[in-house]
Amino acid sequence: MKFLGLDIGTGGSRAIVIDEGGKVIASATVEHQPFASPHIGWAEQSPDDWWRASSEAIRAALMSDGVSRDEIAAISFSGQMHGSVLLDDQDRVLRPALLWCDQRTDQECHEINEKIGETRLIELVSNPAVTGFTLPKLLWVRKHEPDIWRQVRSVMLPKDYVRLKLTGVKACDMADASGTLMLNVRERKWSRELLEQLDLDAALLPPLFESTEIVAQVSRSGAEATGLKEGTPVGAGAGDNAAGAIGMGIVSPGTVSATIGTSGVVFVVTEHPTIDLKGRIHSLCHAIPGRWHMTGVTLAAGQSLKWFKENFAAGKSYDDLTELAGAIQPGSEGAIWLPYLMGERAPYLDPNARAAFVGLTASHTLGHMARAVLEGVAFSLRDSLEVFREIGAPIGTIRLGGGGARSKLWRQIQADVYGRSVETIEVDEGAAFGAAILAGVALGAWPSVDVACQQVIRVAERTDPDLYASESMERNYQAYKLLYAALKPAMNMITGADD
Ligand code: XUL
Repeated sequence: MKFLGLDIGTGGSRAIVIDEGGKVIASATVEHQPFASPHIGWAEQSPDDWWRASSEAIRAALMSDGVSRDEIAAISFSGQMHGSVLLDDQDRVLRPALLWCDQRTDQECHEINEKIGETRLIELVSNPAVTGFTLPKLLWVRKHEPDIWRQVRSVMLPKDYVRLKLTGVKACDMADASGTLMLNVRERKWSRELLEQLDLDAALLPPLFESTEIVAQVSRSGAEATGLKEGTPVGAGAGDNAAGAIGMGIVSPGTVSATIGTSGVVFVVTEHPTIDLKGRIHSLCHAIPGRWHMTGVTLAAGQSLKWFKENFAAGKSYDDLTELAGAIQPGSEGAIWLPYLMGERAPYLDPNARAAFVGLTASHTLGHMARAVLEGVAFSLRDSLEVFREIGAPIGTIRLGGGGARSKLWRQIQADVYGRSVETIEVDEGAAFGAAILAGVALGAWPSVDVACQQVIRVAERTDPDLYASESMERNYQAYKLLYAALKPAMNMITGADD
């Protein structure tokens, strides 16, 4: 038996096929059209482009040596979270989807807070009004595009739209639904109270399932588009944060991961639903029945390094930059990077936050600044780890994922900044791998996600913190913590947030 995991990311869709031992037999990625940003802070993509890329990726994976479509026992999903796919009564897409990183809904978030009350909102849906979440996007379309809103009959998350194309069935899992701001995360059901207060019809939303359930079968048209066999069972899957955690074996309460991709995410599993009444981090359902998780998301993590490289180190590779950074002392001789290039989510929920280099002198070089970027991203993730600790989630060893785990220097910096040992795993296939595991569990190949992860995930390497480096970086971290508040009045002035 083989299982196919499909991750609908932002940059592209990735299909991977694994066997019952968790070995990756085939994989293929097909890029999406880059997201459009017709105004500052907007981010939109075409849902039908995701379907095109997904079907091409599945087809390419199925054409690999050693894979036959008849062996694919089940497929499941992972996907970029929080998007809004708006469909009419014929399930046609009415407008491009607003993405997780879209920041246009500041006003709608204020309106939600005014109408519901900030604390009551967190009590109802376990999360504060986050500009990137789905609900404020719906309110934005209702207000600014009433002609489109009148035609909306279904609201779907990105991967759920792709599943609709593949199977004809509308469904959503608890983990992804948690990121809509419309789920009662504690009780794992849509929040009728919130929807009623905002005058939104619950019938717009898809039925809910646990991530480990089979929810549909590949339809004839889905089979024709992808090369899969008609009738192949399809699982509920999960949003990419929860699916990525499964793919890293972050399943039992207290286990923690830190993933640096475009955005950076720290993730801790909890046995009970927990909330932060200050709204600094997200509280969501895990992709495992009866478990939850907290996440802190820093929006520009890998994005900080990419931006720095493209604008200040033209012609240099990532390896060149990390080599320069590696020659600099921990603490970058006082240079500090605040990574708020895209506004920020955790622990400061602030679309008007702005990035900054602080502490520069004439002696600082490109290498110092590159190292400061790597350290600043780790500081931002540590900020969320501190909130986890404060709420009572103990932090042990931290498992690293994404591009940030592939760089030896960034691994060491993370161990030093978190003051904890960090480890990497053998198969770093992230969310698509997690989706494939969820497919296997849904079909009964493994009795639970825990057992599946015990059998297929192996630690590759462990990095311990260096005491001397930890101490030098601690001073910078304490300074870093002061900087957001100190610069906030200036950021507000620059962005007009106070106007
Ligand atoms: C999670 C989040 C991002 C997207 C990226 O809250 O917004 O990680 O899911 O795909």
